[in-house]
Amino acid sequence: MNEIAPVTDAAAPKATPTLPDAQTVTEVKHWTDRLFSFRVTRPASLRFRSGEFVMIGLMNDPDPKTGKVKPLLRAYSIASPSWDEEMEFYSIKVQDGPLTSKLQHIKVGDEIILRPKPVGTLVHDALIPGKRIWFFATGTGFAPFASLLREPQTYEDYDEVIITHTCREAGELQYGHDLIESLKTDELLNELIGDGFWKKIKYYPTTTREESPKMGRITDLMRSGEAFEDLGVPPLNPESDRAMICGNLAFNLELKDLFENTYGLEEGANSKPAHFVVEKAFLD
Ligand SMILES: Cc1cc2nc3c(=O)[nH]c(=O)nc-3n(C[C@H](O)[C@H](O)[C@H](O)COP(=O)(O)OP(=O)(O)OC[C@H]3O[C@@H](n4cnc5c(N)ncnc54)[C@H](O)[C@@H]3O)c2cc1C
Ligand SMILES: NC(=O)c1ccc[n+]([C@@H]2O[C@H](COP(=O)([O-])OP(=O)(O)OC[C@H]3O[C@@H](n4cnc5c(N)ncnc54)[C@H](OP(=O)(O)O)[C@@H]3O)[C@@H](O)[C@H]2O)c1
Repeated sequence: MNEIAPVTDAAAPKATPTLPDAQTVTEVKHWTDRLFSFRVTRPASLRFRSGEFVMIGLMNDPDPKTGKVKPLLRAYSIASPSWDEEMEFYSIKVQDGPLTSKLQHIKVGDEIILRPKPVGTLVHDALIPGKRIWFFATGTGFAPFASLLREPQTYEDYDEVIITHTCREAGELQYGHDLIESLKTDELLNELIGDGFWKKIKYYPTTTREESPKMGRITDLMRSGEAFEDLGVPPLNPESDRAMICGNLAFNLELKDLFENTYGLEEGANSKPAHFVVEKAFLD
């Protein structure tokens, strides 16, 4: 795997909010030229379930005709767990994207808008009890799992936690890799959940367009049986396995089809818990 030193920018935040629903940026890390993560202050009254998403953004440029300024908001998975006093996000940088062309330039002390209405399907409540939980991600779809991997309930509810992450390039795996490594020395979580809780995790990173220890789309590696062989577990089955999926639309649909038609799993929702849940990592 490529060694990438994240560029960290951390200093004292500014005091007075000036935007509606403003939160102050407390940390920014750039992982690649297309990916960055950042942390912001958390509204005191905001409660959410690990795995949910919120709308965040910045004020748009003034309308050339009216001069009015409106918020420019996008859906973002909360990458931090529900107990964290700050909020973390893991973001793409789309060079001509209305929001991320600007958001990628935020610095410590800047403000972003955070609408305090968390929602989403990638929550423990949407699954019925099982033995093993699978998290399947492509690209920034890792974000909700960065939250759930730091959520004590994940380890209370399951004996095994398998996280697969497929990206084009090796550098795009670094955020997830470092987060999982950090769990081993996280004193708070080891005390809270139990020493060595992280031994329940099996991490399966793969790349598709750059050399890395494991190449290929996770879907193909599952169909061939290679992923199960590598992980030392049997294919998914409705008695023991539960799963959450977050990736591009084609990935989500392909996995949903595999789950329903090959492994016999049933899709769940907040209102009707079942074996697996799906959420898009971005629209289109
Ligand atoms: C439920 C949900 C949760 C989301 N969570 C996250 C998140 O945690 N992190 C995040 O970076 N984005 C997330 N997104 C996408 C996010 O809402 C925006 O699309 C993204 O921030 C780009 O905004 P933009 O205005 O710059 O460009 P947009 O106009 O929104 O997008 C421009 C194009 O860029 C591509 N694109 C957009 N987002 C991504 C992405 N994440 N990865 C790869 N290509 C992308 C798509 O092809 C899209 O058509 C989420 C979307 C949904 C629906
Ligand atoms: N990542 C980059 O370096 C890069 C650079 C410039 C622009 N972009 C643009 O940014 C957008 C998103 O790119 P992204 O790389 O973040 O996300 P992506 O295109 O969704 O790809 C992320 C990973 O998911 C895999 N994948 C895609 N469809 C799949 C499926 N049906 N089943 C299993 N795996 C699947 C991809 O494999 P495959 O490689 O086999 O498709 C890739 O490894 C695209 O429009 C792209 O053109 C990306």
